[in-house]
Amino acid sequence: MKQIYCDNGSTSFPKAPGLGEAIGKHIDFNGYNISRGGYRKAYSLEGEIIEAREALCRLFHCTDPKNVIFTPGATIGLNMVLKGLLKKGDHVITTSMEHNAVVRPLTQLEKEGVLWSEAQCDAQGRLNVEEIRKLIRPETKLVLAIHGSNVCGTLIPIKEIGSICKETEIFFCVDASQTAGSAFIDMEECCADALIAPGHKALLGPQGIGIVLLSKRMAGAMKPLFSGGTGSASDKEEMPELLPDKFQPGTLNIPGIIGLKHAVDFIEKEGLAAIIEKKQRITDAFLEEVSNMKGVRLAGLPSGGGRCAVVSLDFVNLDNAEAAFTLENEFGIMTRCGLHCAPHAHKTLGTFPQGTVRFSFGYFNTMLDIRLAAGALNRILSSR
Ligand SMILES: Cc1ncc(COP(=O)(O)O)c(C=O)c1O
Repeated sequence: MKQIYCDNGSTSFPKAPGLGEAIGKHIDFNGYNISRGGYRKAYSLEGEIIEAREALCRLFHCTDPKNVIFTPGATIGLNMVLKGLLKKGDHVITTSMEHNAVVRPLTQLEKEGVLWSEAQCDAQGRLNVEEIRKLIRPETKLVLAIHGSNVCGTLIPIKEIGSICKETEIFFCVDASQTAGSAFIDMEECCADALIAPGHKALLGPQGIGIVLLSKRMAGAMKPLFSGGTGSASDKEEMPELLPDKFQPGTLNIPGIIGLKHAVDFIEKEGLAAIIEKKQRITDAFLEEVSNMKGVRLAGLPSGGGRCAVVSLDFVNLDNAEAAFTLENEFGIMTRCGLHCAPHAHKTLGTFPQGTVRFSFGYFNTMLDIRLAAGALNRILSSR
């Protein structure tokens, strides 16, 4: 049976062609450290890491490669920004579509006196930015918004939110976990002070590496959540203010960065526009098929515009977990079932507590995958 992977919202698979080889080659032939060794191999490896920062700056229009902070993933990056910036009495605004990677750190921070409001999205996950404006108060320090919903794919208008934040001098942070590598994101254009993404989803890199891109003012305002050796200013007991060192103590995940650079090179070579166009075409085709099906409810927007390649279905007469099990067991189709770590989003969409069966498409899915997935869904639905 052909295996069809439709869980790219969780992690992309396959990854960028040649990724394993690139990482393996680094480990086997070039596995030195950086910022610590005073020899040529270490300096030349440092150059490769700088090239990775530069490639990420090109992709997201971040102004300074030194403001690219490597993290173990988006979750750690979100914790670094939230816990590094907010203190007792500060107010933060998010949307009602956020992932637990935001909800849980904020629930912790609330216990320490941070104030938090959620701007309500509609039943398809769309945000009217005026909902953000209404919640702003004198103590508001940060607006944090998910860019693309990991539950239903709906996009949040980050450019419009960014201009409100710029006008009101509030920090703006974007969780681009579902869109980095599959949408045009221009940090400058959307006035983002922090852009956070994992390397292993649409960026097509390995697990264990993520990025936080910071504006100069955000880097100055945040305190480092972790501290330790940086190989710089070693006579000082405080963390250096110098970037990226301020936020990067300890030895970095260099194989992960080398892998991420390889993946970003692939994206640049294919062209982001071509990647977006292909994923859009595949998602549109799946949405079209689903629109004719009886017995499933689509959570989120029914057509292509304003959404990314994440599609969630709620089965009317069948348990969602049973549907996901049958999809894999009888048709080889791998999806994800449940709440997708985003209970607030499901409450917004009306799919709590049952959750949904999520199909999330990647660059390597094909039209044949869509036809087979639609055929499988029709077979399952007609047997009920
Ligand atoms: C919207 C969103 N934010 C944050 C995360 C956390 O990413 P990671 O698990 O790579 O840290 C995810 C992962 O699914 C996500 O979809």
